[in-house]
Amino acid sequence: MNTILITGCSSGFGLETAGYFLDRGWKVIATMRTPREDVLPRSEHLRVLALDVTDADGIRRTIEAAGPIDALVNNAGFGSAAPAETTPMATVRELFETNTLGTMAVTQAVLPQFRERKAGVVVNVTSTVTLRSLPLLSAYTASKAAVNAYTEVLALELEPFGVRVRLVLPGRAPETRFGETARSRVQGLDHEAYADLVKSVFARFAEPGPITHAQDVAEAVWRAVTDPTSPMRIPAGADAVIWAEEG
Ligand SMILES: NC(=O)c1ccc[n+]([C@@H]2O[C@H](COP(=O)([O-])OP(=O)(O)OC[C@H]3O[C@@H](n4cnc5c(N)ncnc54)[C@H](OP(=O)(O)O)[C@@H]3O)[C@@H](O)[C@H]2O)c1
Repeated sequence: MNTILITGCSSGFGLETAGYFLDRGWKVIATMRTPREDVLPRSEHLRVLALDVTDADGIRRTIEAAGPIDALVNNAGFGSAAPAETTPMATVRELFETNTLGTMAVTQAVLPQFRERKAGVVVNVTSTVTLRSLPLLSAYTASKAAVNAYTEVLALELEPFGVRVRLVLPGRAPETRFGETARSRVQGLDHEAYADLVKSVFARFAEPGPITHAQDVAEAVWRAVTDPTSPMRIPAGADAVIWAEEG
């Protein structure tokens, strides 16, 4: 039986992906900053472990406690919106700490076992905003674009060891907690010079159109993990597929 470890499973894509793999007979190690047993169905194949991806000691302890795994999904992340000029540097640092450095640190902790066993898959969840730029998302986009670049280099290094690496790029998913978290962290959106831009961008966010559902992301992660012929970049969601095709 195969084992997958997923970061950020308390809600959204991580939670859905954990359930998706459990339903298909995988052992799942669902990691969360604050472990909760009640968000996923009870299963002898499920372990919930604590993991804050910004905590180096915590990463070491959790990866050790997890034991051998076959797939790693770096999903934990958050967003924030503000003009580049007014985004507090503290926010920029937090975005990179979680989205970029957290992904790199968890990957680094898992790689020795993948390399030694000459097997394993790393899936990094980034975003379609790295394919088509949107105003107000400079720091978030930069933090995810860095993961795209990191992942593509990683793939070259790990190919000789038979370890696969993939990117899943979700589109806009208003049904997860992502927007709420981003709104709770907003700072720097109220500068008068950017008021018209902010208004028009938020009006665009609210327009109806194709969106991404958590299930789309779970399916894309499944494909990344189980299909060796899958492409390096896998868009997840109807809007994401359109953006990826339009380039
Ligand atoms: N929703 C979208 O529109 C969208 C689009 C493209 C890409 N994405 C990306 O998809 C991923 C999942 O987002 P989502 O939409 O599912 O949002 P979500 O419902 O807010 O889930 C984010 C998860 O990441 C966790 N997390 C945040 N910081 C963490 C840390 N330092 N250590 C460990 N876990 C941490 C959260 O845990 P807590 O409960 O502890 O906060 C939560 O479990 C993120 O990387 C996001 O950037 C989202």
